[in-house]
Amino acid sequence: MNSVTRRQLLKMLGVSAAGMMSLPVIARAQTASNFVNPLLIPPLDTGTFMQEEGGVPRRRFELNLQKGTSLFVPQGETATLGINGNYLGPTLRFKRGDILDIQVNNRIGEESVLHWHGLHVPQRFDGGPMQSIADQGSWNPVFDARQPAATLWYHSHAMHKTGPQVYHGLAGMMILDDDPSAALDLPSRYGIDDIPLILQDKRFKPDGQLDYMSRYGDMMIGQHGDIMMVNGTVSPFFEARTDKIRLRILNGSNARLFNVAFNDGREFLQIASDGGLLEKPVPLKRLMVTPGERVELLVDVSDGQTVILRSEPSENHFPVFQGAFSELMRAMHGESFDILEIRPQTNLERLPPVPAVLASLPAVSADMGMRTRRMRLNMGFGSRSGSGQGPGLGNRTGQGGGYGGGHFSINGRVMTMSYINERVKLGDTEIWEVLNDTPMVHPFHIHGSQFRVLDRNGVPPPAQQTGYKDTVHLHGRETVRLLVSFTEFADDMYTYMYHCHTLEHEDRGMMGQFLVTENG
Ligand code: C2O
Ligand code: CU
Ligand code: CU
Repeated sequence: MNSVTRRQLLKMLGVSAAGMMSLPVIARAQTASNFVNPLLIPPLDTGTFMQEEGGVPRRRFELNLQKGTSLFVPQGETATLGINGNYLGPTLRFKRGDILDIQVNNRIGEESVLHWHGLHVPQRFDGGPMQSIADQGSWNPVFDARQPAATLWYHSHAMHKTGPQVYHGLAGMMILDDDPSAALDLPSRYGIDDIPLILQDKRFKPDGQLDYMSRYGDMMIGQHGDIMMVNGTVSPFFEARTDKIRLRILNGSNARLFNVAFNDGREFLQIASDGGLLEKPVPLKRLMVTPGERVELLVDVSDGQTVILRSEPSENHFPVFQGAFSELMRAMHGESFDILEIRPQTNLERLPPVPAVLASLPAVSADMGMRTRRMRLNMGFGSRSGSGQGPGLGNRTGQGGGYGGGHFSINGRVMTMSYINERVKLGDTEIWEVLNDTPMVHPFHIHGSQFRVLDRNGVPPPAQQTGYKDTVHLHGRETVRLLVSFTEFADDMYTYMYHCHTLEHEDRGMMGQFLVTENG
């Protein structure tokens, strides 16, 4: 898959090498001739199926975390990490009610672990940093899938190493099915009309190896790359054989925001958010997907026209002030670039019409919250302050770009393994009021539950944010209120995590842990 010519590549690298302070700009692939690689579809893994006594289906998965190499760029092979392969992992597909029995073997040469992002699982099987697996070690979580159909994912959650391990490839998708969603006649043929799209951006060193955290900007806004990939495919195209396709989009990048849209401005339907189907399809032209989030879209391609999935600049939510940090944020929100070309074939198979109603979700209101728990996201004022030149002479009021040189924290605390930040009582419904006390966007994620968004700066969320979610973005200075409950698993020792899903922020401490116990 030599997708980029040497000349194109040097151009891309030239752009990204422009200077220490510039945000890498994604090379724009504007013409169809640039989409030269068929989209790789991660292998589907439905496990080894066994029927338990009592008729409960049990699926046994074996996941080997391993080192590999991948051919992404013309310079040659890139050292990568994968799960049962060289880069990324298989899509695990299972059904509500199944027992999952997952053997995880770590062969990557350092500690790691896999977290089941979005799944409701007991704390000790959640795959947070507490379940760290030593190199050459194994771990065997067993739990049942007990929530509605959804697109979920799994990824490394090693303490302080989640960023580099996910960046090198330790991630994959999970598809959870259930009977009500199967009865809906939505496209569900994997790789044919139901397409997994793991969106990631990468940056390469001149020798073809991944370039990770080598710049000042990476420390603040997280690792950004200049080469876009989908499922590990650079410059991908997909040949559609049906008149509509379902895109299961996972933002699996470390830090990059995607504001997905089509190049011809066509409308699409959002049918699901992180935790499953929305009540009704929501017609949209753009949709923000921040790291860790998943969305499912239906796109009508019955007109037979080639169309490009892109990321458009997002609305400016950041304050404009002087200094490097403000510049980085403006660059981060201002980029537009192509992601995937979709080429409808001739004689498209016609699929049934889109159902008008997808699911029924319980109504939520703030009255349901038994208590409010406040979370304040902070970026420390560090050693660097902004004169626009990295370490500089700007003021330290936060208006001079001094963010991020220091620590990342929640409620003033940097994550440590030995400190339990919060205690929650099993069965309680709580309001988590999350305040982003920084000027930049952060995707806030909670383990062990799917929550609902009550409001954003006091205003009820738009339709696309009314479904079940486990990750929600907050723009600078925003407050969101989430209705969260933990009804299933109590544990006196093992915790769940909550954190920013910009992996470099998580790794540097914008994370906390909480216990769910019978007594709270
Ligand atoms: Cu997707 Cu705690 O992570
Ligand atoms: Cu998670
Ligand atoms: Cu963050």
